[in-house]
Amino acid sequence: MPKIAIVGSGFIGRGWAISYARAGYDVSLWDRETSAPEAAIGYIAEVLGDLAANDLLNGQTPDEVLPRLSAEGDLAAALDGAVHVQENVPEILEVKRDLYTRLDDLAAPTTVLASSTSALLPSRFTDHLKHRERCLVAHPINPPYLIKAVEVVPAPWTSAAAMEQTRLLMLEAGQSPIMMTKEIDGFIMNRMQGALLEEAFRLVAGGYASAEDVDIGIREGLAARWAFMGPFETIDLNAPSGVRDYVGRYDGMFANMFEQMKTRADWSGEVLDRIEEDRRQRLPADKLEERQKWRDRRLMALAAHKRSEEEKTGK
Ligand SMILES: NC(=O)c1ccc[n+]([C@@H]2O[C@H](COP(=O)([O-])OP(=O)(O)OC[C@H]3O[C@@H](n4cnc5c(N)ncnc54)[C@H](O)[C@@H]3O)[C@@H](O)[C@H]2O)c1
Repeated sequence: MPKIAIVGSGFIGRGWAISYARAGYDVSLWDRETSAPEAAIGYIAEVLGDLAANDLLNGQTPDEVLPRLSAEGDLAAALDGAVHVQENVPEILEVKRDLYTRLDDLAAPTTVLASSTSALLPSRFTDHLKHRERCLVAHPINPPYLIKAVEVVPAPWTSAAAMEQTRLLMLEAGQSPIMMTKEIDGFIMNRMQGALLEEAFRLVAGGYASAEDVDIGIREGLAARWAFMGPFETIDLNAPSGVRDYVGRYDGMFANMFEQMKTRADWSGEVLDRIEEDRRQRLPADKLEERQKWRDRRLMALAAHKRSEEEKTGK
């Protein structure tokens, strides 16, 4: 199988490595910290067992997937022969810019250089490169081997060929690519998340509800549908004649609310004290890591459930 290089083997790098190795690719991991790739592979070895138990390894055993991963001490060797480079270094513009200069020099000119960046526009760290047309963003949600959506975002100079090659790779890796046509701060998912968080802070700051009650509204309310449909499909099904009918009935109700949302909500100060106090009462700080593991197990069960329901009832 073709080879993929993982550059930066922390949280997200190791997550991508699982997705690509599960799909059959040989995966070479590199990091500035020489011990990080081995540590990532050690972590992956543990996760593969859980994935197999939830039938999330495409019928393969961990022993079939693990040997596809290798730790590489030298960046040039990691990139050698790679069809795709997935970059996952810290979210610092200068770090990415410097690294991309090296990647552009070392990788074959047709190798796609994809960044996992959460919020940096691809034009900000690829403008100076010789082969900048093969650079783009492929932004996942953590962890990518359990959550399928990936935002594929071009810089103004990214070629259609690089976008298409990445789209096909994402599909093969079992991801759901979102093909953006131009860059914008926050891409799609963080813009949607930002809108929701902004309103959540506003409600708590205004004393309308506690942090936990806002969380219940999503967890036990809206998100029940969002696990398998987006906002447009949701409203299409929430009025007898579909989306236009919904807008006709409810546009006025929302217009009234939006008047109240026109100023920035406060995310710090007293409101943050209250939200943090609510959270720490429910989850002491020393239990955060344990709860992250719990979240990942729930996500595995949800991914397995969605997969089996899609087989039974269709997408
Ligand atoms: N954590 C998330 O939930 C999440 C989700 C989506 C995207 N991202 C994005 O993924 C990228 C990586 O984030 P992360 O959470 O994996 O961070 P992380 O700190 O877990 O991993 C970063 C890795 O990069 C290495 N590194 C640092 N400088 C380097 C350099 N100059 N060259 C090579 N390696 C270097 C570090 O040793 C570390 O192993 C960021 O751009 C982040 O915005 C993160």
